[in-house]
Amino acid sequence: MRWTTRDIRQMKGRDKIPMLTCYDYTMSKLLDQAGVPLYLVGDSLGNVVLGYETTVPVTLQHMIHHASAVMRAKPKALVVVDMPFLSFQISPARALESAGRIVKESGADAVKLEGGERSAAAIRRIVEAGIPVVGHLGLTPQSVLALGGYPLQGKGKEGDRLLEEARILEDAGCFLLVLEKVPSELAARVTAAASIPTIGIGAGAGCDGQVLVINDLLGLDPDFAPRFVKRFAHVGKTIVEAAAKYCAEVRQGKFPASEHEYRDTSSKTTSSTASPSSSASSSTRTKATRAKTTRTKKASRKSPSRGKKS
Ligand code: KIV
Repeated sequence: MRWTTRDIRQMKGRDKIPMLTCYDYTMSKLLDQAGVPLYLVGDSLGNVVLGYETTVPVTLQHMIHHASAVMRAKPKALVVVDMPFLSFQISPARALESAGRIVKESGADAVKLEGGERSAAAIRRIVEAGIPVVGHLGLTPQSVLALGGYPLQGKGKEGDRLLEEARILEDAGCFLLVLEKVPSELAARVTAAASIPTIGIGAGAGCDGQVLVINDLLGLDPDFAPRFVKRFAHVGKTIVEAAAKYCAEVRQGKFPASEHEYRDTSSKTTSSTASPSSSASSSTRTKATRAKTTRTKKASRKSPSRGKKS
């Protein structure tokens, strides 16, 4: 059974809510095995997948492309997709059009919009059309140009304003609220005041749940180590070591070993009868053998979705 917005809302005050970003099919399958109830196809994919400096260049098409891959794994998680910069700010009508494209074309469950009062009209319009919306307050990375970086938000008097904006977003119909890079006391105040769950990132333990970028949790980039990130693994190092080992074995002729090779076991074609011309066409034969093996494997695979790739 798949997680619903209702399930997530009911967790407030009962169970902490773990959320992770997810950008592709394979990760979607793995996180599903781990029992992650809530995915965010974040526009952070602009940084960690596409290599942009900020999330500003991310397009609606990027988001739909990645969300579709995530959904093809058929996760049980509720899947939220970020609305990218300028896909919702121009007008509520444009926002609904963008949100509609995301859920219709990718099959995802909900959208997330950055901003408080400035995004409320768009949120209202999307919610009225029947699309669940997640709000996002505090540090809103799409405003990096205006903010001049990624500073802590909600300090001092700003905190009261953020509290008010949280109320506005709940009123506009959000079922969940992300709080990014705000003082933990403020996040705890918002969490206590809101009747919808809050999900923190760099917002302390007082939130109803937490979200992390999957690349950060896995330690894929050893150079990225802000205070709010905890690395639960060091997969970046593992990948570098594995790739280096592979290169060494190819160079040394150790890989592929005989157990990785295919042999022609039919009685007609043996190495002693092979002519130079048939040797010249060996690559054609190898391709044919591989195609035949692939077909056989496809037929015997247990998982049909995996079979497509073999
Ligand atoms: O895009 C993203 O990954 C996010 C999280 C940081 C909340 O918006």
